[in-house]
Amino acid sequence: DRPPLVLGLETSCDETGVALVRGYELLVDAVASSVEEHARFGGIIPEIASRAHLEAMVPTIERALAGAGVTLADVDAVAVTAGPGLVGPLTVGAAAAKALALALDRPLYGVNHVIGHAVVDELVHGPFPERVMALVVSGGHSSLLLLDDTVQVTELGSTLDDAAGEAFDKVGRLLGLPYPGGPHIDRLAREGDPDAIRFPRGLTAPKDQAAHAQDFSFSGLKTAVARWVEARQDAGEEIPLPDVAASFAAAVADVLVAKTLAACERHGVGTLVVGGGFSANSQLRDLLAQRCGEAGVELRIPPIRYCTDNGAMIAALGSAVVARGMAPSSLDLGVDSTMPL
Ligand code: KG4
Ligand code: ZN
Repeated sequence: DRPPLVLGLETSCDETGVALVRGYELLVDAVASSVEEHARFGGIIPEIASRAHLEAMVPTIERALAGAGVTLADVDAVAVTAGPGLVGPLTVGAAAAKALALALDRPLYGVNHVIGHAVVDELVHGPFPERVMALVVSGGHSSLLLLDDTVQVTELGSTLDDAAGEAFDKVGRLLGLPYPGGPHIDRLAREGDPDAIRFPRGLTAPKDQAAHAQDFSFSGLKTAVARWVEARQDAGEEIPLPDVAASFAAAVADVLVAKTLAACERHGVGTLVVGGGFSANSQLRDLLAQRCGEAGVELRIPPIRYCTDNGAMIAALGSAVVARGMAPSSLDLGVDSTMPL
């Protein structure tokens, strides 16, 4: 009566992720990345990513099977990211998953990448309580989700423009930092004064609280940083990079944490899960730890390798879906770059 063995494939961006999960147990998580091939372009080039997935897919699957000491015949179900993400990369993963499901005669489950970023935490910290709030923040998404019984998901809000990581990367570029700028800003910010410059907190004005209380907006903040920097440059002044970084990072963390904890209170939720590559951000982590402690909200953040894109998140969500007897996808499953929840 062991739970079924679920193979998860993730290819929504530049990471080829393959993982095997049984119940809540992660047997193996293999990943190949094309990130270095994109660095010189200052952003992900979808066609390069697609080709890299095509080349890495079978070797990564073989590595995962060997790591878990199983064969393809042991796989009971195949889960794959159906969206959101880049269409070309998603298509490579979906084609591989369909080929496996067809050849092995096993059910196929197309699942949502953003939900996977939250559910992967079950493999680390155990099953979720009945209701969980999830903040998923990365270069591609900034979403606030309410999870009931893990798989019944309501999107409470999301960014209206840039994702948190995307805002960091754009500000990184205007500060002349290497791509991706996020980790560089984080490092600089630790040496700066977060109160040096008062940057705007998007969608926190009273007028926004009605329609967009649970949404985010970071493009106005990015523009404010650009204006501030340009004004100093025009005046021939030196830019105090650590102070700019710290003040910018504080504005992002402030908004994310305030809105997320307000949502926890509004919906009576005592557990917060944070996922996505931006959850590596120190300013966000520090503020979350402090405010969750004050509010009595349990904070669950998986180790960073499970926050960035990986196969375990897809296998974890696949396992949760299979365990609840949900219907598999048909083999004509499509991919959806903007997949709603
Ligand atoms: O989840 P992820 O690896 O890829 C996406 O799906 O986007 O997230 C990467 C994003 C990038 O925008 C990167 O700059 C940002 O997360 N990031 C950070 C930090 N580490 C990664 N941003 C701020 N501080 C960090 N420590
Ligand atoms: Zn992601």
